[in-house]
Amino acid sequence: MENFRFLSPTEIVFGRGTESLTGELVKRYASKILFHYGGGSIKRTGLYDRVMSSLRQHGVEVVELGNVQPNPRLSLVQEGIELCRREGINFILAVGGGSVIDSAKAIGVGVPYPGDVWDFYAGKAEPKETLPVGVVLTIAAAGSEASKSSVITNEDGWLKRGINYDLIRPVFAVMNPELTFTLPPYQTACGVADIMAHIMERYFSPTGDHELLDRLCEATLKAVISNAYRVMADPHDYNARAQIMRAGTLAHNDLLSTGRIGDWASHQMEHEISAIYDLAHGAGLAIVFPAWMKYVYKSNVGRFVQFAHRVWDVDVNFENPEAAALAGINRLEQFFTDIGLPTRLSHADIGADRLEEMADKCRMTNGDSVGQLVKLTRRDVLEIYKLAV
Ligand code: NZQ
Ligand code: ZN
Repeated sequence: MENFRFLSPTEIVFGRGTESLTGELVKRYASKILFHYGGGSIKRTGLYDRVMSSLRQHGVEVVELGNVQPNPRLSLVQEGIELCRREGINFILAVGGGSVIDSAKAIGVGVPYPGDVWDFYAGKAEPKETLPVGVVLTIAAAGSEASKSSVITNEDGWLKRGINYDLIRPVFAVMNPELTFTLPPYQTACGVADIMAHIMERYFSPTGDHELLDRLCEATLKAVISNAYRVMADPHDYNARAQIMRAGTLAHNDLLSTGRIGDWASHQMEHEISAIYDLAHGAGLAIVFPAWMKYVYKSNVGRFVQFAHRVWDVDVNFENPEAAALAGINRLEQFFTDIGLPTRLSHADIGADRLEEMADKCRMTNGDSVGQLVKLTRRDVLEIYKLAV
């Protein structure tokens, strides 16, 4: 087991009606805030009014910045930084999903920094301070409500890049599963795929012999799979929504990777798809992850057989472990299809004409390779994109 440090300071305020506590939570940090949100779902569902009313009750002064797009853009982050500086704001409330939260985190580190906030995402500088960020979560997916990550797209070159610092973990996350009842089925499914991908990135680790983490990952995956079928059948199933929401945080607050390193190649490859085609991140993962598995499984057949057997109940055929491993990958793909996700680029109307460009742009996080279970070169990345066509 690797040595590790684990910091998860986010206060989780979970359950029905908890958005009414937002004003009380915010008031601990500030009396004037930036209220950051997306393209309007929170106005349609009435959440905007409820959060505003709670803030008003606690005398919190609000400056608004909406219009965060999925795959959040650098230009709006820069607008938010200027707005906070001009208005003397010291706290950001993100009401929405991963895109709104990531945009809020970027604004948070950008306000005290005299240079260009993109320096952090380009790896040219490290943030030393941030404005605190609080969250009211509306979709179980990215896990950004408690993660140390923020992913932003720079329109100049359509580069989607992430940062990872404990500093940017939100101070609180209000999580009411009822808020996710209004999600379109496709967004629910994208969230499920992202949650599973966060667990699988940690599970397919080159650091073996960690039964505790293996079992936690397998159990969380199994719970997400069965509850995904439940919410697809009944979007108002509170307990199923609640379990997926809990899993979304657990999948990405790093508890499931304590003591071992994760892979993360599929995330890097996916980011190039959603940067160019503006596809939902979870849909991109449903396409890339099975392709990555088919390309690398022979390097560690035992781990893929374990995944097939323990997560997907595949009978283990000891005479032919490769067939058992492939059966698990096929079951994963079938599950994504069952919940309405694309598993090939063509299912998302994406052609094969820009694969070279995506392979060129894919961030090689180890210098000249990406991923840990197998260190993939640019050529490998291109082959995986080809498998995903
Ligand atoms: O913008 P609005 O109108 O609010 O609509 C959103 C958006 O269109 C809608 N939505 C959200 N909650 C809703 C709802 N519609 C109806 N009812 C609700 N309750 O759903 C759409 C998607 O929202 P978004 O925030 O983009 O989803 P998600 O949480 O999946 O976030 C995706 C972003 O997070 C990044 C992804 O790359 C992507 O940019 N990630 C962030 C991570 C992190 N910070 O830790 C880790 C992930 O790996 C991921 O990369
Ligand atoms: Zn993700």
